[in-house]
Amino acid sequence: MKRLAVLASGRGSNLQALVAAQAEGILGDCAIALVVSNRRTALALDRARAAGLPTAIARLGDFPTRSEWDVALDAILAAHRVDLIACAGFEMILGPRVLAGYPLRIVNVHPSLLPSFGGGLTAQSDALSHGVKITGCTVHFVTAEVDAGPIILQRGVPVFDDDDVATISDRILREEHRALPEAIRLLADDRLVVDGRRVRVLPALDRTRSL
Ligand code: GRF
Repeated sequence: MKRLAVLASGRGSNLQALVAAQAEGILGDCAIALVVSNRRTALALDRARAAGLPTAIARLGDFPTRSEWDVALDAILAAHRVDLIACAGFEMILGPRVLAGYPLRIVNVHPSLLPSFGGGLTAQSDALSHGVKITGCTVHFVTAEVDAGPIILQRGVPVFDDDDVATISDRILREEHRALPEAIRLLADDRLVVDGRRVRVLPALDRTRSL
């Protein structure tokens, strides 16, 4: 069973979706082993404690440099013997140490259909102001370039004439809550094959078939 760390900075609704998926037995061959935040007051930490999960805090401001923060975060992950990482509303850009330690083992959920509206924290309002008729969410592998790693899965949602940032964000978030656990399950079950930018999904093993 692989050990999953969830990195979250705020509300933590995607963390909650992962906790629920684990409870329902649909998170695949992994268990949430740690929740890390860069903010002491993150609601995600309260949700983690309520679910009985170990938590850790790695605040950039507690370290002299970003590179020392990166090394400290890597040490926290190593101490908890983490195999996989989900960035679920994590506002920090990961450093080279963590990225090198978990190649194609870190995923992020982003509230737009990448490569549209990537690279920032205003994806939903950018999509609205651009006037797109369909937006959605993307779960992708994390690489050194922000929001640019190979795409694992995407879910689209319509944009309606009377949408505002709150309504479109809610509609996207509901899809995030399904997409992130699904992507983690595929990763944990070793069903993702990365070929350049393309990620193929292997069929599920038929565990009922006799050997
Ligand atoms: C989500 O919209 C996610 O896509 C973005 O930040 C938000 C986090 O929401 N990166 P939550 O903290 O999981 O509720």
